[in-house]
Amino acid sequence: MAVEFKLNGKAVRIEPDPGESLLDSLRERLGTTSVKDGCQPQGQCGCCLALIDGQPKVSCAVAADGCGGKEIVTLEGLSAEERDLTARAFVAAAGLQCGFCIPGIALRAKHLLDRNPNPTRTDIARAIDVHLCRCTGYTKILDAIELLARMRRGEATAEPSEDGRVGASYARYRGRELVLGERPYVADMTREGMLLGAFALSPHARARVLRIDTSRAAKLPGVRAVATAADVPGERWYGLLYMDWAGFVAVGEEVRCVGDVLAAVAADDEATARAAAALVEVEYEVLEPVLDPSVSIAAGAPRVNPAHENELSRSVIRRGEGDIDAALAASAHVVSGTWRTQRIEHLFLEPECALAEPLLDGRLALFTQGQGVFDDRRQVARFLGVPEESIYVELMPNGGAFGGKEDMSVQAQTALLAKLTGRPVKLRLSREESVRLHPKRHPITMDYSVGCDAEGHLTAVKARMIGDSGAYASVGGKVLERAAGHACGPYRVPHVDVVAVAAYTNNPPCGAMRGFGANQASFAIEGCLDLLARKVGIDAWEIRNRNVVEVGDVFSTGQVLEKSVGIRKTLEAVKTPYYAAKDAGKAVGIACGLKNSGIGNGVEEWGKCRLVVEKDQTVSLYNGYTEMGQGLLTVLIQFAVEVTRLPASVFRPKVDSTFALGCGQTTGSRATLFAGRAVTSAAAKLKADLDRGLALGDLVGRVYAADIVIADTTPLGAPVAKIKTHTSFGYATQVCILDAQGKVERFIAAHDVGRAVNPALCAGQIEGAIHMGLGYALTEELPCESGMPVTFKLRELGVLRARDMPPCEVILVEDPEPEGPFGAKGVGEIGLVPTAGAVAGALEAFDGIRRYALPMKDSPAARAMSVGKIRGDGAARGNWH
Ligand code: FES
Ligand code: FES
Repeated sequence: MAVEFKLNGKAVRIEPDPGESLLDSLRERLGTTSVKDGCQPQGQCGCCLALIDGQPKVSCAVAADGCGGKEIVTLEGLSAEERDLTARAFVAAAGLQCGFCIPGIALRAKHLLDRNPNPTRTDIARAIDVHLCRCTGYTKILDAIELLARMRRGEATAEPSEDGRVGASYARYRGRELVLGERPYVADMTREGMLLGAFALSPHARARVLRIDTSRAAKLPGVRAVATAADVPGERWYGLLYMDWAGFVAVGEEVRCVGDVLAAVAADDEATARAAAALVEVEYEVLEPVLDPSVSIAAGAPRVNPAHENELSRSVIRRGEGDIDAALAASAHVVSGTWRTQRIEHLFLEPECALAEPLLDGRLALFTQGQGVFDDRRQVARFLGVPEESIYVELMPNGGAFGGKEDMSVQAQTALLAKLTGRPVKLRLSREESVRLHPKRHPITMDYSVGCDAEGHLTAVKARMIGDSGAYASVGGKVLERAAGHACGPYRVPHVDVVAVAAYTNNPPCGAMRGFGANQASFAIEGCLDLLARKVGIDAWEIRNRNVVEVGDVFSTGQVLEKSVGIRKTLEAVKTPYYAAKDAGKAVGIACGLKNSGIGNGVEEWGKCRLVVEKDQTVSLYNGYTEMGQGLLTVLIQFAVEVTRLPASVFRPKVDSTFALGCGQTTGSRATLFAGRAVTSAAAKLKADLDRGLALGDLVGRVYAADIVIADTTPLGAPVAKIKTHTSFGYATQVCILDAQGKVERFIAAHDVGRAVNPALCAGQIEGAIHMGLGYALTEELPCESGMPVTFKLRELGVLRARDMPPCEVILVEDPEPEGPFGAKGVGEIGLVPTAGAVAGALEAFDGIRRYALPMKDSPAARAMSVGKIRGDGAARGNWH
């Protein structure tokens, strides 16, 4: 049935399929890409917002065939002046990171400000309640909308900063286009003759595949290819460290989790592809899944992976003279307990998507949003059985990742479908598929015993950890290794005995997620410090003051900390507000944290850069690390500007395979550190030519190269004379202050960032991490039953909304890192390492209850949040582990 309506002032006529959403009509039929699909059909992220007859509606929840005669406005339909003001306000206020959520929020802001030109901050937070942002923590979004209101009232102007020097808050690279929805993500891309893909996933966590029949799917009109394991020409197994993950599970094999792929379909449109995927018939012998990591590693448990025992990894740290139990026994005070953390979904706003396109020269182009495009290329090439050089790979804007896009998701199957059909193929996961498929943050159970002397100086830490790594190795062993390494937090501990085990189960895989094991360990060790402080008779600030590491102290792993150890400065930075809040009778919690910057542990790491002077006298800045909202490309420009003194507008960052710049994943808070060093090195070569009196016009075609190698870290437990497990560490102290009802009233975060290359982006990273950390502490979880998540609903998963966020004060402390570019080190992960510990301390101060498990849903602070109530059992579910 034809439907006619006005879109941005123009009459349009479409013939939607039965049940088609307005969002799909706008995007697929009318090419309106400012409306994004973050959760269709849930209607819970706000990315698809449109104004329908003046009312804001999430277009994924509106039937297209009900829109006849309506006036529909999207961000594209605003006046040029409104669009300009909006973009300038958001960019000037640093009110965006990955940008995926922003067009919807920007349109919401217009609707709000049309009706209420002078809103309060609370009005704004309420207005954007439908909208989810996983990156920013909302603080700078509220700043941006306040600024926009003032600009619209003629009370302010704002120009995004063009000062690209190190230390300036230079405007986010291509931020304007992201705000306005003009910069395409992979899902926004189209190609002539493009097919759309879909997966058939396993409904079982563990089952033997007896038969796969694709005949009914293949016969559906519009279907162009149905691929299964039998169609893979190369190596069907992939994985970042250990190739145990099948791109397709074959007949005779076991599915190991509910995200396993049995078949992939390419069809003329997505609806047909999904309908065909549903017609793929798979006969299973359903088997009892292994769901408990402790059971998994016990004798007699069924093997999750037939080629590997269920104990995926074991990390051991033993340091200090004699027996740990004797050291504890000799301590004046000892506390013991079991701490538990939950499984966490990344919930990046942009679900996984890839586009593969056969090129005329015989190569395959792969447009991806993965966290390591060269790893994507390497694994896809193996999957297809072709040389890596036959695949051109390009990073598109990435709508958030947080570690969840390190592993392969859709890239290999999409590439195969393009090979099989000879046509461009795009394959995008739905929100539910995304949650089922990519690795999560590990649930870890941690038994701790910690001792101190009569004055509160730590004497010994004994910890036993077991983490649920789920169905595939991913980087799970490394996460538990990092949890072991961070088991003592940023504290001086003479006697350490830590064992951390990662176990396979049939739960969704767990792997990298912001914090990478440090968050879990921090929750436990910070709890131990609070308990010890009470025994000693000192407060929580003071016990940390007596134990934080200084230059010359030894980290848990045995590494002597030689430089850039800013933890005491961060502790001092929060001292006054901490005691002021306590003196005012508030319930206050405090926690310290550290996080490695750089993978380390003996892994060779690189930073690679090519600066190419182009004919138009711009300079292409190639690097191998990923921009995923954290601002990497912006700070790389700043390094280049600082060295060359050229204007920032000269530099054009690119991440593709034009040059061999494979650096591995953007992980371990290392991209600024290592890519930054490579950029400064390449830029110095360009500067040398400029200093010889040459202009860019004289240098067209020149390539300035720099590859830096970091090969001086040592593996955990290596018998070496000088232990150096990590290149650098970020440090933080955070303070949580509750109100009289036990709700989080205010949060203070002091962070040693080495050097704040871009203070606005740096603070934004920390604010966003605190948002994620508060959710981790209070409301977020991904419980599973029989290996299947019990919910996929965004509100139930517990990611905080704007109204839930307390005011956050970020204090940037600079203790320069000599191995970092201009003193910088990573800030991506440390932001939420101490957060849960600080919240737990504040809650105990409020109601006297020491909480040992996350999320702390029984607390008044959690009950005050608008999210995180899971259907059926609500907050009473308690702690999942
Ligand atoms: S896609 Fe419509 S609200 Fe998320
Ligand atoms: S900027 Fe909001 S989700 Fe990334």
